[in-house]
Amino acid sequence: MIAQAQAQPHAKKRVLVPTMGALHKAHAELIHVAREHAGHDGEVAVSIFVNPLQFEPGSDYERYPRPEKADEEFCQKAGVDLLFRPSVAEMYAGDRSVFIDASSLANTLEGRSRPGHFRGVCTVVAKLFNILSPDAALFGEKDFQQLAIVRRMVRDLNFKIDIVAVPTVREEDGLAYSSRNQYLTVQERKQAPVLYQALRAAANAGKKSAADVVAIARKVIGEAPLARIDYVEVVDAENLQPVERVGLNSVLLLAVFFGKTRLIDNIRLS
Ligand code: PAF
Repeated sequence: MIAQAQAQPHAKKRVLVPTMGALHKAHAELIHVAREHAGHDGEVAVSIFVNPLQFEPGSDYERYPRPEKADEEFCQKAGVDLLFRPSVAEMYAGDRSVFIDASSLANTLEGRSRPGHFRGVCTVVAKLFNILSPDAALFGEKDFQQLAIVRRMVRDLNFKIDIVAVPTVREEDGLAYSSRNQYLTVQERKQAPVLYQALRAAANAGKKSAADVVAIARKVIGEAPLARIDYVEVVDAENLQPVERVGLNSVLLLAVFFGKTRLIDNIRLS
């Protein structure tokens, strides 16, 4: 049975999967890994909240999918113990005035294209941590920058919470699962696997120059006529700053538009 109310103080180990709903296979994997971390005696909590603070003006906040009934059934089937689905009014006071900013890690990549996004993410994640008091929380590696920033926030603000990274879950053709994939037209969906093809081609070429790695990825993406590149970059996985030479800790990240839909993905280069 899924508890719907705000969490009470808890004696059991609690593992949180924070989400914005529209749950899919990648969330099922997060919940599965959360169960392993919680153990038989622990509990798995899922939060579903489409967080207005992390959507920049003019983006898809209004049209973001909110299949409430299907999400609830999904959680029930997945054996979730606690489902937390607050309203915007419950989460944010009208005169809110304190936020969490991530500064240096948030000014690159996604942060450059989506100003204010990580301020919204950090603020809501911190609030979820305070409300639900999890012992551990799981984040997918697809949102690589988000994961790095949440880890940094936990370190810098002394949250006593283990952050667990879960590898990206992909469809058979390599496209990373995302709630936004459902926006793609049939033609865009056909071309979207080019992202993972580009990442793999670039990673497998064995190049040491970051510029060469980026050039390979750009060339592969360029073969998909509907793809419009936002960024393709090689950065250090810890500080997210660009690198010139590929090292053990390098990661290749990209964001690409198909029509109005912006997809992100990444691959480790080590
Ligand atoms: O990755 C997401 O779904 C969201 O950014 C998160 C972590 C649930 C915060 O709103």
